[in-house]
Amino acid sequence: MSAVLLSLPLISIRSFMDNKLYNNEVAFELQTKKIDENRQGETLTVERPKQVDSNGKKYYIESYGCQMNFADSEVVASILANAGFDSTPEFLDADIILINTCSIRDNAEQRVRHRLQHLSAVKKKKKGALIGVLGCMAERLKEKFLEEEKIVDIVAGPDVYRMLPAMVEEAETGQKAVNVLLSREETYAEINPVRLNTNGVTAFISIMRGCDNMCAFCVVPFTRGRERSRDHRSILKEAQELYDNGYREVTLLGQNVDSYRFSEDPKLVGKKLVDAKYDEGVVNFAKLLEMVAQIAPDLRVRFSTSHPKDMTDDVLYTMAKYDNICNYIHLPLQSGSNRVLDIMNRTYTREWYKERIDAIKRILPEAAISTDIIAGFCTETEEEHLETMDIMEYAQYSMAYMFAYSERPGTVAAKKFTDDIPEETKKRRLTEIVALHRKHSLEHNLRDVGKTFEVLIEGTSHRSAEHLIGRNSQNKVIVFPKADLKPGMYTHVKVTDCTGGTLIGELA
Ligand code: 5AD
Ligand code: SF4
Repeated sequence: MSAVLLSLPLISIRSFMDNKLYNNEVAFELQTKKIDENRQGETLTVERPKQVDSNGKKYYIESYGCQMNFADSEVVASILANAGFDSTPEFLDADIILINTCSIRDNAEQRVRHRLQHLSAVKKKKKGALIGVLGCMAERLKEKFLEEEKIVDIVAGPDVYRMLPAMVEEAETGQKAVNVLLSREETYAEINPVRLNTNGVTAFISIMRGCDNMCAFCVVPFTRGRERSRDHRSILKEAQELYDNGYREVTLLGQNVDSYRFSEDPKLVGKKLVDAKYDEGVVNFAKLLEMVAQIAPDLRVRFSTSHPKDMTDDVLYTMAKYDNICNYIHLPLQSGSNRVLDIMNRTYTREWYKERIDAIKRILPEAAISTDIIAGFCTETEEEHLETMDIMEYAQYSMAYMFAYSERPGTVAAKKFTDDIPEETKKRRLTEIVALHRKHSLEHNLRDVGKTFEVLIEGTSHRSAEHLIGRNSQNKVIVFPKADLKPGMYTHVKVTDCTGGTLIGELA
């Protein structure tokens, strides 16, 4: 357990790194950052606004899963603080323990279940203490959670966080409180999230919720509901406030940012037109990106995740037009085989995907591209696995998040196909994919040696107090000597050396 005090006043974060690896898949995730291992189990303490009276109750919150979940915990913290709750970093001191959960793969759920056993110690110490489960596992399991984990008192899906104070009251009477209603409207637009960021420099802004894509392997459409975009004005306001408070980078978050569409007129939002000339009266993703980029030239803008079927040249041209929109695109491949892509319901072909890579390289020659890959999806043959590796050769990813297929109950794949690839085969294919990717990421980094990059400084290196870390536009981490620079400043760094994961440099 380590305690890290934030540069921001009022907030502190600690991380419960559970060092146990449940299987290889987690080990592979560990090398990467999408499911950021350093943040798993992170907890936060937030001070109640001065004008809000305390209700005498303390809560403790821990978060798992993707960036979206961490952003959601910031919304939950804001809702509870405004209802008079105080936070505590010690779960044994809490009246209410909340755990924000992830369902994407089975090991994510197993980790939460282990953690719940540990957290349940609070009930022995404090009579009346409550345990609440939030997020994707709550939504997936619903009432079943209460049967399976007797210690749980509150089950709240991702669209009902405004109800949490009332749900706590209900649970205090001894009743179990369950609300997993999904909404077509909720975006928490006007709730100002309490920033949990450790560095005061980079922040996430959730621009949409849910997903309408129904990829066969994915549980997200079931746990997060229908896709809905947040009013661009509230997004711009949030980004401006972050900038005014010293932040210098925002990452716009959505399951499929390319399908962001906001309009006052619901009829226009319903239309999924990709050609900007039909987008009169609608803010599409390219327009949103431009508006955020125009807030200030020294506010970096990133986004995640792009979908190959929806990523337009318009978005790429907007990226090319603004220096502060980072040259980095996360474009999940999942598989390189047309047959597998088809049964995954990804709705693009390998040829289409390669054309999108060509478009990125043509319009943004400096851009780095990262991806997600699943090894061993139902019925995947050896040749089809090799086709995935072939696209990896074509794209030359700077970073990749690689997973063995994990069947999720309720998904299209679970209903329609048999999870028929033996575990050893999945693991072996994953190992081959990881080895190839390691080679590519090292080569990618070696090509940067000798180049000079503009770097936004994020903090001090974990390994050396004499070194700072930051990232370049391509999202690569660079370590360099401190001099008298500080987080939040930009500097130019010349790369002198590298590892597979990090660039090492000197001030230029
Ligand atoms: N098994 C393995 N990986 C999965 N992902 C999503 N669902 C599954 C699953 N059932 C991966 C995809 C997605 C990323 C967030 O997680 O690659 O892009
Ligand atoms: Fe899941 Fe596909 Fe939606 Fe991504 S686009 S969240 S993989 S259904």
